[in-house]
Order: sequence, then structure tokens, then C-alpha cells
Amino acid sequence: MRLSRFFLPILREAPKEAEIVSHRLMLRAGMIRQEAAGIYAWLPLGLRVLNKICDVVREEQNRAGAIELLMPTIQLADLWRESGRYDAYGKEMLRIKDRHEREMLFGPTNEEMITEIFRAGVRSYKDLPKNLYHIQWKFRDEVRPRFGVMRSREFLMKDAYSFDLDADSARVSYNRMVVAYLRTFARLGMKAIPMRADTGPIGGDLSHEFIILAKTGESAVFCHKDFLDFETPAEDVDFQDPAALQAIVDKWTSLYAATEEMHDEAAFAAVPEEARVSARGIEVGHIFYFGTKYSEPMKAVVAGPDGAMAPVHMGSYGIGPSRLAAAIIEASHDEAGIIWPDAVAPFRVGLVNLRPGRGLRRRLRRSLRQAPDRRRRCALRRHRRAPGLEIRHHGPDRPAVASCRRAQGTEGRRRRAQAARRGRGPDAEPRGGFERDRGLRRQAPLFLRHARRQPGIRDFLEASSAGTTSWRPARRREHDGSRACY
Ligand SMILES: Nc1ncnc2c1ncn2[C@@H]1O[C@H](COP(=O)(O)OP(=O)(O)O)[C@@H](O)[C@H]1O
Ligand SMILES: [Mg+2]
Repeated sequence: MRLSRFFLPILREAPKEAEIVSHRLMLRAGMIRQEAAGIYAWLPLGLRVLNKICDVVREEQNRAGAIELLMPTIQLADLWRESGRYDAYGKEMLRIKDRHEREMLFGPTNEEMITEIFRAGVRSYKDLPKNLYHIQWKFRDEVRPRFGVMRSREFLMKDAYSFDLDADSARVSYNRMVVAYLRTFARLGMKAIPMRADTGPIGGDLSHEFIILAKTGESAVFCHKDFLDFETPAEDVDFQDPAALQAIVDKWTSLYAATEEMHDEAAFAAVPEEARVSARGIEVGHIFYFGTKYSEPMKAVVAGPDGAMAPVHMGSYGIGPSRLAAAIIEASHDEAGIIWPDAVAPFRVGLVNLRPGRGLRRRLRRSLRQAPDRRRRCALRRHRRAPGLEIRHHGPDRPAVASCRRAQGTEGRRRRAQAARRGRGPDAEPRGGFERDRGLRRQAPLFLRHARRQPGIRDFLEASSAGTTSWRPARRREHDGSRACY
């Protein structure tokens, strides 16, 4: 994608309303735009990130055996009257009337609707267990929407709903989601800790919130520090093996971890002092087991092995991809901007040709376009040999920048020093590399920036006029950073 053809409305100044860093950076980098209080448009750059988050969420849900569907955003009020929540939900629910004066609402969550879909299609215990999910926009009329997409009124949610015959098998479904969540957040480059939580208006008696530790988190959280070193469940974990799932969940719930509402001073005091972590956290996921709370009033019943009809045991499992985009930035940024985890970086590499018209950029772009995604790195490496092109592949945690001129100097010095050490004398011609290719000096320097290290603001500005810009002070900062890479 050429940046000159992309739509990237960046802001030079930090908007005053942005109180936290993720909100500020998302606005400035042209990822989102506020359309009304707590309602945001996702601009192309932001949407790329949001979609990548959803891809990871979806893959892990599917791996755990959940099945995707898509329910509408607008729901009938009558459905909510069946569960008794229409009046109970209060002002957070956006209530609407259609032209026939029929009462509708913009869904804040989907327990009622999925129960209705389930009861229409499943009659027997033989069809269980089932876990159905969708990724859909929700609306909750929060009193005080704030922090951008972190606490917005309209937000994206992946919500899954499990259906089981009894409490024991519902527990297995719950465990499946715990493991899927641990994997999801780890793949997004974050450590999320499951903490026992209050069930709130969803109801029920077993619930965990998945919390990312971040300075600007909305709530105070308390946990054992060993959580930070726990290993993420492997990709080949057997979701059909209840014992294996239970073992993982036991491990991840064995130590103290609680949000402010569930905090128990006495229990926390029992944790060795050096292992106590009191921090702030962002809730990125929330799971519930609520038994027959909805299936009973809504008559979602199945015939058991003995032929008797019984209400199904249900759980619901939410992740907020739009909040996650902000949470990732809170957890991963520095003074120069966002540091994207590989999995969600909007672009993999950024190229800036400092001398236009040489065809280099075109050649490189062509080969990048042709290379399948996972082979792009190889394509980059291959081009390292092309004259006039300096491309260094940098490990995922090394912000990378290199230009020919720079590389030559540094490389040359290093090779000279090596040659001297090997007894060929300080003046010996260094072998190989850039020095060997004397033509290089005359070639166009090409600037490569690992796009995951994407400050998003000034650098993108420069990049968008690629080919006509020269070094600018902003680059020098990057340039200095690159020294460490040699
Ligand atoms: N106002 C919001 N803005 C953005 N994301 C939200 C918002 N409310 C909830 N989410 C996301 O949806 C997930 C599930 O929400 P849920 O637990 O049902 O809501 P709540 O935390 O308000 O009880 C949360 O973990 C969070 O990631
Ligand atoms: Mg919650």
C-alpha cells in the first residue's frame, strides 16, 4: 500500500479531550475519529488493527470448538421481557421504537437472543455441548464514556454462549473458554490474568475477569507476582480432554488474584510480601457461568438421557476487541509512539525511498506484493543482495531502521575492526558485505523501518511524501536507535 494513496488523517497536536495515552495516540495516528460521545468511526489504519485482533480472537474461539454466527444489533423488547431483564437493565439500554410503535433496543449483550435461537433448534441432550459466538457491535449508554474506545458507548464485542446438560459439563465449557482466552491474549502480545469477579447484571455464580496490568487501568487489582511468569497453554492443547483443561485452569486460578470489588485484604495478606502485586488493570475479557438463569424463564429445555426435559446450563464469554486495541497501546508504547505486537501491527514494514526514480522501490514493492504473507521476511532478505538496497531484518523486539549510508559506515568500521583483530592489519580491505560492493555508495539509499515500530505520527507524515523527503530530525531519533542493531 502506498501511503500517498492511503487515507491517514493524522493529527499534529494531542487533542485536549484525550486523557490517556492510548486515546491520544489513536486519535493522532488517524486510527479512530469521534462521531459522538462514546461513538467512534474506525479509520482505515485503526480498522486494520481491529480486524487483526478479531482474527486472533476468532481463530482461538474456533480452536476451542466454538461456532460462529451473527446476530443483529437491534432486538425486540419482548424477548428481554421473557427473561425479566427489560426493566432491570436500566438506563444503559438504548431503547428505540420503530414506525409501528414496536419497542426495540440496541443490544447491549445477547443472552436472550441466543437462548431464543438455541431453544428453537435444539431438543435433545445429544446435541450438546454447544458453544455459539459472534463478533458484533454493542451499545451501552454509559453515563460517562471516556478514554476513547476503552470505555465507549458503541463497542465491538465477541460474545460466546455455551449450552450444556448439567453443571459439570458446563464447567468444562467454561474451562475451554479460560484456556482459549489465555491463548488469545498471549497471541496479542499481552499477559492477561484471570481474576475472580463479580457477576453484575449478567448474574450467576462463577465468573472471571481477564485483566491486563497497565498504569492507566480503570480498576485497582491485586495478585501474586508469579502470574507474570506462567506459561501460556500450548497450541496443541486438547480441548476435548476435561482433565487437561482443568489442570490448566487450576494452575491459573491457584494463586491470589482479585479485582477491587472482590478484594479480600486478609487473603492478600497471606501472600508473601515480596510476591504481592498491587497494580491497576484493564478488563479485556469477562466470562460467566450462570446455570439456568435464562434457560429456565425462557424455556430453553432439552430431553435428557432419561427422557425428562430440563433447562440447559449456560455460560457467556465476552472479549472487547475495540477495547483491546486501546489496551494493547496502553501496555505497549514509549515516548515516540505505539509499539505494535507483531500479530496486530497494521503494517509489517515501512519503506521510504530517499531517492526517487530508481526503480528500487518498485522492484521491492512488487516482490513484497507477490510474496505470500509468511514469506515476506524472506523476500526482504533476498533483496538485501540487491545493489543499493539496504534492508536489515530485525527481530521482533528490535526497532529497526537502516539506510545504506549509515550501514556502510558502521559496517565498514566493524569489519575493519574485525580484520584488525584477525591479524590482517587495520588497513586491510574488509571482506564481503557492503564494502565489497563499491557500487553501493552511488546507489539510492533506501530507508526501511519495521512498521511495527510505528510511532504513527510524524514518521508517517514523512513517509506519506515518500520519495521527496530527506532526512529530518525525526529520523535521527530512529537512526540513533538503529545503532544498537548492528
Ligand atoms: N463500554 C465498553 N467499551 C469498550 N469495551 C467494553 C465496554 N464494556 C464492555 N466492554 C468489553 O466487553 C467485555 C465484556 O463485557 P461485560 O463484562 O459484559 O461488561 P461489563 O464489564 O460492563 O460488565 C469486557 O471485558 C470489555 O472487554
Ligand atoms: Mg465485565
